[in-house]
Amino acid sequence: MNWVVLVGSVRKGSFNAALARALSDLAPEGVKIELLPSVAEMPIYDGDIEASGFPGQVSSVGERVKAADALVIVTPEYNYSVPGGLKNALDWLSRLKSQPLKGKPTLIMSASPSTMGGARSQYHLRQVLVAVDAHVMNVPEVMVAQAHTKVADGVLTDQGTRDFVGKQLAAFQSFVKKAKAGEAA
Ligand code: FNR
Repeated sequence: MNWVVLVGSVRKGSFNAALARALSDLAPEGVKIELLPSVAEMPIYDGDIEASGFPGQVSSVGERVKAADALVIVTPEYNYSVPGGLKNALDWLSRLKSQPLKGKPTLIMSASPSTMGGARSQYHLRQVLVAVDAHVMNVPEVMVAQAHTKVADGVLTDQGTRDFVGKQLAAFQSFVKKAKAGEAA
């Protein structure tokens, strides 16, 4: 199984990027995880750009999402919502004829230095993913609170968090398998 990961933060020391990088080690056997390019590589959505041709980065991310068995989105919360760069990337992907997000088994996780762990961004993100008809797993949820105490030098070090994320990924593997079995039936 091949899962691709979109990260909502573009900063070097991102806690969410650290969480995303940990996923390969924490995923169940047989799952290959690849990080997608930074959302910063897509220009701000502009219908005039679209009319003259999709930017290469949008098309290539779209192809990789379309080809993947599943998508994982790891994002911070900005002002109780999703960062603009992530929303922009989803807006671009929603415009592709191939509709890479439609029906795609999707997992959400977030990390924040706050005690809420980015929960509010997850619920806004779920709303956006309804519009593109992504197939989002409801539970278990992963919200990494007080992320600054759980990441050291860009590595997710907190063992309790690693164990919990591993359980979420195992549940997601079952979710993806069920979705694929449903497609085949
Ligand atoms: C934040 N942050 C934040 N945190 C949170 O839990 N709820 C929020 O609403 C916000 N709002 C917010 C707005 C803006 C513009 C910024 C820059 C930051 C703090 C945020 O969680 C923190 O900066 C994280 O470290 C960002 O994630 P990365 O970059 O570490 O992955």
